[in-house]
Amino acid sequence: MRGKWWQEAVLYEIYPRSFYDSNGDGIGDIQGIIKKLDYLKALGVTAIWVCPFYKSPMDDNGYDVSDFYSLAEEYGTLEDLKMLIEELHKREMRLIIDLILNHTSDEHPWFIESRKNEDNPYRDYYIWRKGNNGKPPTNWESFFGGSVWEYDETTDYYYMHVFSKKMPDLNWRNPKMREDMYQMIKWWLELGVDGFRVDAVAHLSRNWDFPNYKAPEGKEYVACYHEYSNRPEVHDYIKEMNERTMNHYPEVVTIGEAGGASLEDTLKYCAYDRNEFHMLIQFDHCWLDTDPDSAPYVPSKWTWKDLDLRDLKRSFKKYQVGLYGKAWNTLYWSNHDQPRVLSHYGTEGPDWEVCGKMLATVLYMQGGTPIIYQGEEIGMMNVKFDNLEDYRDVEIFTLYKETVGKGLATHEEMMERIHHRSRDNARTPMQWSDEPYAGFSTTEPWIKVNPNYTKINVDEQLNREDSLLNYYKRLFKIRQNTPTLIYGDFKLYLEDDENIVLYTRSDGNEEYLVLCNFFDQHVKVTLPNDIEYQASELIISNIREINLQVEMNLQPYEALVYKLFK
Ligand code: NOJ
Repeated sequence: MRGKWWQEAVLYEIYPRSFYDSNGDGIGDIQGIIKKLDYLKALGVTAIWVCPFYKSPMDDNGYDVSDFYSLAEEYGTLEDLKMLIEELHKREMRLIIDLILNHTSDEHPWFIESRKNEDNPYRDYYIWRKGNNGKPPTNWESFFGGSVWEYDETTDYYYMHVFSKKMPDLNWRNPKMREDMYQMIKWWLELGVDGFRVDAVAHLSRNWDFPNYKAPEGKEYVACYHEYSNRPEVHDYIKEMNERTMNHYPEVVTIGEAGGASLEDTLKYCAYDRNEFHMLIQFDHCWLDTDPDSAPYVPSKWTWKDLDLRDLKRSFKKYQVGLYGKAWNTLYWSNHDQPRVLSHYGTEGPDWEVCGKMLATVLYMQGGTPIIYQGEEIGMMNVKFDNLEDYRDVEIFTLYKETVGKGLATHEEMMERIHHRSRDNARTPMQWSDEPYAGFSTTEPWIKVNPNYTKINVDEQLNREDSLLNYYKRLFKIRQNTPTLIYGDFKLYLEDDENIVLYTRSDGNEEYLVLCNFFDQHVKVTLPNDIEYQASELIISNIREINLQVEMNLQPYEALVYKLFK
């Protein structure tokens, strides 16, 4: 399959709360996004994905929806959203919105009804179970730490929530609930959105036998995610949803988000012949530096060790080769749930900018649709707040309660984990300038700005020729003008090399070679014999212009892309 708009798109993810505050209340908003569309257009972005803006008590910054048909007051009105669509379309850009199917807020009218009594018509919209001898129905652990069950004394039942307790899971076995969801989706399609990023879709089904597990030493709950992730019925639900909604809008794109999806799962979700999603956001490359044995009492994402580059390359290869010709990839380093990529897989040290350019080259020269996360293009980094009170993410507080609160970890240890891994690292305000509050707002924002904004900001980089921001622009221009870089195949070389990323992209017409030094040491590399070429032309580089030779001496974080001539 070729030539679909979403295959040739450059997506940009916006976390609206932290992008740009147009009305001085310290919270980003829809009008703020509109004000920055020209900036995004100039960056080469062709579509934006905006995280939830629906009415919500904001327990999980909007992923807890209390009304699917209106906007949270702080973000604006439906009229603002219509204006956003219009302004995007004027610029030949598109809007992808977040679609949250797995849960609602506990303040959604469906849940308010559901919890009233066992006979309520909305009772079965959610998952209710009786306790097990004074304990929750199972000892399954929620993604945010603690139990997946919350006791509700109104009817003496527990309800299930794989995320926060203010986000009760919907019961997708219930056809009436599904029908209500389809009505809602049709309403947004009619309004003119161009696509959906389908949140947490992996969890729509669970094992209704609800087995219990033996908990590890010292732990009450078990991280048995497979009991409620990527189960077969999820695919039936997606297919039915498409038949009732998306299939009638062939230009609309759908991007599923599926935690824990293997290559096989990914193919099920988005192979061209499956009629499910157009692309999938899977997480294989995201947590390759975890070290679960070092702290079994926290979910593994909160642990870390040095990255083994070979693991990352294997992960790239798995999806690049595994999906080629069968399904379409997504390319992303980070999002609002991940640490900042420079802090995670790169460096915060003096070479951060060269390193940022290398990371962009390694990823965005691969096959698939790029999804840039806001601030990545200027090298925004993790933040280290000294005080727990400066953090905002519900996940941090549930986890802190389950660890420090239960004597399993010290405050200092958890602060270090938060500094490395928390989602708030990605949620500090966008750094537009070196003015107060980084030019994001005229008042103290809902979450503090990263103090490095005086050095790292859009204004500083816009006019500096060699900035990371300008490198992003060049890189995406090259990509957009080079069909081989969009549609070509991917071949990985030097798979066992611990420092170098080397791959080619070719399609029979043209061939490109990408050569990057991933770390901060000088490295020698010998090109493998089976890379055949007569001549080469340098297309883009992040440090210097050098010719391609059999023996290369790469500088720290050096990135080079060549066109090869046979
Ligand atoms: C995935 C979203 O990206 C994340 O931010 C959210 O907390 C969960 N899904 C629950 O909606």
